[in-house]
Amino acid sequence: MEIILAESAGFCFGVQRAVDTAYKYTGEENVYTFGPIIHNEEVVEDLKQKGIRIIEDTDDLPPDRPATVIIRSHGVPKSIIDDLNSKGAKIIDATCPFVKKIHNIVQKDSQNGNEIIIIGDRNHPEVQGIIGWSTHEPIVIGSISEAENLVNSTKTVSVVAQTTFNNKKFKDIVDIICKKLYNVTVYETICNATAKRQKETKEIASKVDAMIVIGGRNSSNTQKLYDISKKECENTYYIQTLVDLDFTTFESVSRVGITAGASTPNYIIKEVHSSMAELSFEQMLENDESKVSIRQGEVIDGTVIGVKPDEIVVDIKYKADGIISKHEYTNDSSADLTELVKVGDPITVKVIKTNDGEGQVLLSYRRVAQEKINDKLEEAFKNEEVLTGKVVQVVSGGLNVICNEARVFIPASLVSDNYEKNLEKFMGQEVEFQLTEFNPKKRRVIGNRKKLIVERKKAAAQALFERIEVGMIVEGTVKNVTDFGAFIDLGGADGLLHISEMSWGRVENPKKVFKVGEPVKAYIKGINGDKIALSLKFEDTNPWINAGEKYAIGNVVSGKIARMTDFGAFVELEPGVDALLHVSQISNQHIDKPQDVYKVGETVEAKIVDFRPEDKKISLSVKALIPDTNEEAETVEEADAE
Ligand code: F3S
Repeated sequence: MEIILAESAGFCFGVQRAVDTAYKYTGEENVYTFGPIIHNEEVVEDLKQKGIRIIEDTDDLPPDRPATVIIRSHGVPKSIIDDLNSKGAKIIDATCPFVKKIHNIVQKDSQNGNEIIIIGDRNHPEVQGIIGWSTHEPIVIGSISEAENLVNSTKTVSVVAQTTFNNKKFKDIVDIICKKLYNVTVYETICNATAKRQKETKEIASKVDAMIVIGGRNSSNTQKLYDISKKECENTYYIQTLVDLDFTTFESVSRVGITAGASTPNYIIKEVHSSMAELSFEQMLENDESKVSIRQGEVIDGTVIGVKPDEIVVDIKYKADGIISKHEYTNDSSADLTELVKVGDPITVKVIKTNDGEGQVLLSYRRVAQEKINDKLEEAFKNEEVLTGKVVQVVSGGLNVICNEARVFIPASLVSDNYEKNLEKFMGQEVEFQLTEFNPKKRRVIGNRKKLIVERKKAAAQALFERIEVGMIVEGTVKNVTDFGAFIDLGGADGLLHISEMSWGRVENPKKVFKVGEPVKAYIKGINGDKIALSLKFEDTNPWINAGEKYAIGNVVSGKIARMTDFGAFVELEPGVDALLHVSQISNQHIDKPQDVYKVGETVEAKIVDFRPEDKKISLSVKALIPDTNEEAETVEEADAE
C-alpha cells in the first residue's frame, strides 16, 4: 500500500505558536487558556495534566490570586482583553498574527465609520473575536444566500474573511457583495495555510483509494478538509486519533492519503501515519508469500500458463506474468511452441527485462539453456570428457556437430587419424570427440575426433600386444589388399597376411581372394616389434602331411599344368603340392620344351617317379606311362619265330 501524507497536514503556524506558548507556562501557577488552546481534546487534556486549565469567561478567574491568561490563536473580542486587564490578569496574547491583523483592520475601519462585513461562520470563535473589535455591529455572511439578502447600499464597506473560510466561496460572496454595494474594500484575509492545506487535500484525495482526515471533533477547518476530500474520494474517513481508525477498511486499499486539520498535533498524525505504514508493510509481507521481486539478468523458476505457436506465458510469482518469445525459446525459427511445451510445464528462465513498457516481463529460456550448455561444455573441455554429437552439416573445412544443443565445429584435419577424403559419409552420424578449444564468446568451440581415435588405437594396440602371441589364432577384418598381401585389422593393430601365407597353394592375385571388410581368421606366424605376420596355412590342412601315402613312387596321379619353364612343367596335384614333370619325362621322343606339348591349365596324368618329402619335391613322368614300342616289337618277333 502506498501512503501519501499531506505536507500541510497538522498545526499551522498560528496554532503551533499558541500551543508552544501554552507549554512554556506549564511550570507556573494559575495559568489559564481563554477557551481550549486548540480544538483538540488530546492536547487540551495534556495541558490540563500539566496544570494549565481553561476558562470560558473572565468570571472564572480566581478573585484572590493573580492569574496568567493565554489568548489562543483564534483571538478574543476586545472586551475580553479589557475585562482581563481590569481584573489584573497577566495576558499572554497568542492570537495568530494573521487574525490579529484582521482585528486591527476591523477596529480601524469601524472607527472610521465603515460598514464591516465579516465573511465567515458566526459561531466560530475566531469570528466572535473579530466581531468584538468593531466599534459597531458588523454584518456576518456565511453563505451565498445570506449575501444575496443584502440590501443595496452606497455605504463604504470593509470586507474581511475568517482566516479558515473557503476561498472559492469567499470570492463568490464577494462578487455578490460588490454588485449590491457601491463602495467596497475587500481585505484578502483568508490564511494561505488553510488554502494550501485545502488545495493539497483535494489533489491527494483525487488520486487515492481512501483518505484519512485527522482533526478534533469541533475543528471547522478539519470538517472543511473532510468535505473537500469527500467530494473527490468517496472513501474519506474523519478521525480524531488512531483509535478511531478501522484498519480492516484499508486491507484492500492500494493507495491511501492522510491529511489533518490545523489543530491536529504532529504526534497524532505520526501515529496514524506509522500505523498505516505498518499495515502497508504487513500487506507487503503477505504479498511476499506469493509474489517475488525480480531483477534483470536473474535466473528464476516459473510455470507455463499459456502457449501460442510463437509465444509462451509464464507464471513467475511476480506481479506481472513473463513472456518468452519464440526466438528466446529456440534457435529453430520454424518451430511451433505448442508442440514443444504445454501448460503446467515447469521452466527455468532468465529475466531479460522486468518491464517491456506494457507491464510484462521479458524472459528467455534459450539463454538459460545456452549458459547451462556452456557450463557443461566448459567442464567437458577441462576434464577432457568424450562428447557425442550429431553431424548436422558438412562444410568444406569440416563438420558441424550439435552436442547438447550447442554447435561444435570439427575441422577436417581433426575428423580422423587418416585423411578423410569423403566427409559427406559423416552426415547425420553420431560421432564422438573431445574439445580442443572452448571460447564461446568468440564462438570457437572446436572438437577433435582424431585425438580420440589415436588414443583409443594406442590403448587397443597395447591391449592387443599384451594379449597375442605367436601361434595364436586371431580374428580380424580385411582393411586393405595389395599385390603382396592383405592387411588385417586385428583391433588395435594390423597384421600382414603375405601372399605366400594366404594358401598352401599358389595365389596369383590377392585382390581376387580378399575383399576389404571381409572377416578373416588367421594365426599369428610372427611378431616383430609392432609388426604382426599372419598366415592361413594352418598345419592341420598341410597337404604334405599325408603326401607319403598319396604320392608314393609308382602311383599314377593327375593334375593341372600350373606353370612351365624350359626344363619342365609344374603340375599342381592339389593346392600346395606341385610336382615337376621334367621335359625329358614328357615323351619317348625328344621335346625341346614343355610348351611344345602342353598348355597351362591342361590336365595331365603321370607316374610318380621320385618323392622327397623333406624337400617337398615330387617328380613325375608321363613317359613312364607310355608303353615301350621296342619291347613290344621284340615280343612280336619272338612269337613269330616260334
Ligand atoms: Fe493563523 Fe492561519 Fe493558522 S490565520 S491560526 S496561521 S490558519
